[in-house]
Amino acid sequence: MNRIDLEEMEKMLDLAEEAMHHAYTPYSNFQVGACLRTSDGEYYLGCNIENASYTPTVCAERTAMFKAVFDGKRSFDGIAIICSGNNPSFPCGVCRQVLSEFCESGMPVLSSNRNREYTVCTLGELLPHSFGIGDLKA
Ligand code: THU
Repeated sequence: MNRIDLEEMEKMLDLAEEAMHHAYTPYSNFQVGACLRTSDGEYYLGCNIENASYTPTVCAERTAMFKAVFDGKRSFDGIAIICSGNNPSFPCGVCRQVLSEFCESGMPVLSSNRNREYTVCTLGELLPHSFGIGDLKA
């Protein structure tokens, strides 16, 4: 995992903001964008995509992660998330679990509100005692 400095964080936030404009949110009108950085320096962007049946809705973080995994990426340096709301958008529980499948617990997660006021924490802080592949061993 490569370290992400402040300048890189800002760049990822720019990309996440761009991604947020792709959101499909006729039900909540709450837009989220995510920028996931791979360990080989590529960026995968995601937005939330809602559905009339509600439960099939997918979050921005999972859109970005699933695009990356489809492309064969398995190692990540960090994720930046921005939303259209007043409060910084932290990943939901399901997204925390999906991130934990491929990301180390020390990976930085940047969460921003619409005014680019953000906090950075680690995935391990968001999902301590996560359930992982090792837990399936007999
Ligand atoms: N949402 C995300 O995209 N990411 C999160 O981590 C939290 C929630 C989306 C899903 C839904 O489209 C909208 O925000 C309201 O829940």
